[in-house]
Amino acid sequence: MKIISTSSFQTKKIGQLLAEELRGGEIICLSGDLGAGKTTFTQGLLRGLKIKGPYTSPTFTIVKEYHRKTQNVKHTLRARRSMLHVFHIDAYRITSKDLRELGFNDFAGKENSVVILEWPEKVKRLIPTKSVWINFQWVNEKEREITFDTK
Ligand SMILES: Nc1ncnc2c1ncn2[C@@H]1O[C@H](COP(=O)(O)OP(=O)(O)O)[C@@H](O)[C@H]1O
Ligand SMILES: [Mg+2]
Repeated sequence: MKIISTSSFQTKKIGQLLAEELRGGEIICLSGDLGAGKTTFTQGLLRGLKIKGPYTSPTFTIVKEYHRKTQNVKHTLRARRSMLHVFHIDAYRITSKDLRELGFNDFAGKENSVVILEWPEKVKRLIPTKSVWINFQWVNEKEREITFDTK
């Protein structure tokens, strides 16, 4: 599925809409060149996941981690406070080995985590086949083509 976004606001909005579909355990791979809109999209996605800002870029930290309480399910007898862990990763400067050492396999794909990964092709060996791929392409100053490809 392809969408043309005509503003960064719209790209954030699309990210926010995707958040509503997430149930936990997803690995969302955002591919595309520098300036294509991956981080902008992520800001909308984090907002949609009800993560409080500010959303600082993980460019230097590699992995930026956010946590929030999930709503308690009313009918569970033992009301447990569970957490949703969201990991925003910028793999531009790293390798699969680096990401493995950062604990990727311990948190990625777990039911209480959502992983958002920029530059997934840099760490492709580590990414499970069952992940969501979204490609961003620069069209012009204001337009970006966003392609959704679920594997
Ligand atoms: N339609 C659009 N979608 C996303 N970003 C856009 C759009 N139009 C202009 N921009 C601008 O392009 C830049 C995208 O940067 P960023 O999201 O950091 O890209 P990336 O993370 O892919 O390198 C931002 O400065 C943003 O304001
Ligand atoms: Mg970025």
